[in-house]
Amino acid sequence: QKNKGVWNMYNDLKGQVAIVTGASSGLGKAIAKRFGAEKMKVVVNYLDQEKEAKDVVNEIHRLGGEAVAEQGDVSKEEDLDRLITSAHENFGSLDVMMNNAGIQTETYSHEMSLEEWNKVISVNLTGTFLGSTKAIAYMLDHQIKGSIINMSSVHEVVPWPYFVHYATSKGGMKLLTQTLALEYGGKGIRVNNIGPGAINTPINKEKFSNPEEREGVLSMIPMKEIGEPEQVASIAAFLASEQASYVTGCTLFVDGGMKLYPSFQAGRG
Ligand code: NAI
Repeated sequence: QKNKGVWNMYNDLKGQVAIVTGASSGLGKAIAKRFGAEKMKVVVNYLDQEKEAKDVVNEIHRLGGEAVAEQGDVSKEEDLDRLITSAHENFGSLDVMMNNAGIQTETYSHEMSLEEWNKVISVNLTGTFLGSTKAIAYMLDHQIKGSIINMSSVHEVVPWPYFVHYATSKGGMKLLTQTLALEYGGKGIRVNNIGPGAINTPINKEKFSNPEEREGVLSMIPMKEIGEPEQVASIAAFLASEQASYVTGCTLFVDGGMKLYPSFQAGRG
């Protein structure tokens, strides 16, 4: 039943140019591969996993797309500029900007240093701001009715103790995306969020390898399954495609029902 394969569904995506940030692992990697299967041209951004990024590039070629690997830190303005230049110089356009890169750490809020706070905010929220607005500037310049997709989380609406910087960054992404969608809707540029729940990626490796913690997470998911990266990648392909041509300012949650107040599932309350 699970969509674990790499699908090809949206013919209009063929030949379109995308940047995927943080594409050397987890959700970014699955999305880059899915875009490759859709025969897109993909700038595979990585922070420090060069080999993994090159493997993703090879995989995209195998799937029938085109790709280049490009190092860059999304919290740095000049690095985002370089990613956009890479899309332009290698592939001549930018149609889809997938701001996926994100980090988290676990700390009591009253013990969190300003440095730790700033780090998560600068990658997750400022990185998404930079990626979105620079892509929009390019699209306006080249009269492209493109799609901006931002990787948010169920934590754009669900509070998360010990992860105050993360929850704040994702909550901020909700209004970042909605504001940009409103501001540029008239230009035909769509801006949407994906809101994953608990997905099987390196960010959760430690948690899911501990049986007790894994059970704890499963008890919070009405569908009683951890999600797979491909189940998120399919939503990115949909939001990028013409099939979502009238969808903007939305967060599409991909969470097995995680934010439906699971403690009410048995009729309690
Ligand atoms: P991951 O840790 O495999 O992926 C994060 C990627 O971002 C890595 O490739 C990392 O190298 C890259 N990265 C980190 N800092 C960067 C920077 N400054 N510049 C460029 N790249 C950078 O974990 P995962 O799960 O694939 O995370 C991807 C996104 O999905 C994140 O934004 C995360 O918050 C979000 N997410 C993940 C969920 C999950 O259950 N896995 C749930 C909800 C949201």
